Amino acid sequence: MGKLPTFQDMNDAPSANDAGTDSTGDSIADRRQHFPATERNREPILAVLKRVLPETGFLLEIGAGSGQHAAYFAPRFPGLTWQPTEPDPINRASVAAWVEDTNTPNLRPPLDLDVTKDVWSLETSDVIYSANMIHIAPWECCLGLMAGAGRILKENGLLVLYGPFMRGGEHTAPSNAQFDASLKSQNPAWGIRNLDHVTDVAQGCGLALVETVDMPANNLTVIFNRQN
Ligand SMILES: C[S@@+](CC[C@H](N)C(=O)[O-])C[C@H]1O[C@@H](n2cnc3c(N)ncnc32)[C@H](O)[C@@H]1O
Repeated sequence: MGKLPTFQDMNDAPSANDAGTDSTGDSIADRRQHFPATERNREPILAVLKRVLPETGFLLEIGAGSGQHAAYFAPRFPGLTWQPTEPDPINRASVAAWVEDTNTPNLRPPLDLDVTKDVWSLETSDVIYSANMIHIAPWECCLGLMAGAGRILKENGLLVLYGPFMRGGEHTAPSNAQFDASLKSQNPAWGIRNLDHVTDVAQGCGLALVETVDMPANNLTVIFNRQN
């Protein structure tokens, strides 16, 4: 069993790097946060994305966090326009810095998008990708994500989620149970979600579960398809 990514991993302090400065004189690279878990999980996630994503189209990333996933994945999908979004201003600055540093034509600067809002900043997308968001946020964020995906995904569009899930109401590993307890101690509204509940909500929003992929460290990639 691999090491479980912890919330502490996801929130490691930003690392300083040398790089240029922007018009305000601030170091661009200083705003790039480095989440170790995000660097560890990117290869296994990439392998799934390579198999399931369309070659061309528009991908909306929700809760992009540091921006490391966007910076790593976008150059590997040159036919996809990769649009990261992030509601937290400090994280969004990190995403912007990673985008600038990556300098990839298909990777757009981040948008401010809170999934709980009734109106999102984009009206349509071929794919929505969100990693490690719905358990480190209140349940309303899962509801908002599904509602928004139901509204904006094109027919047959994909919603791709990555993270830990309970299955049949049970944790899939003791380390996930510990992680869940640690999340709840930080915020009682957080916690690892039951895949059955997530799937029920998705179905109510016109999204069918098409595949679950076992990932390292007791995580899953879960893929939904927008029905007619
Ligand atoms: C643990 S981080 C994961 C970041 C990144 N996806 C990754 O895997 O490294 C969770 C992210 O979800 C974002 N988030 C929290 N509530 C949200 C909401 N209501 N709408 C969109 N994103 C949200 C947070 O700001 C944070 O950046």
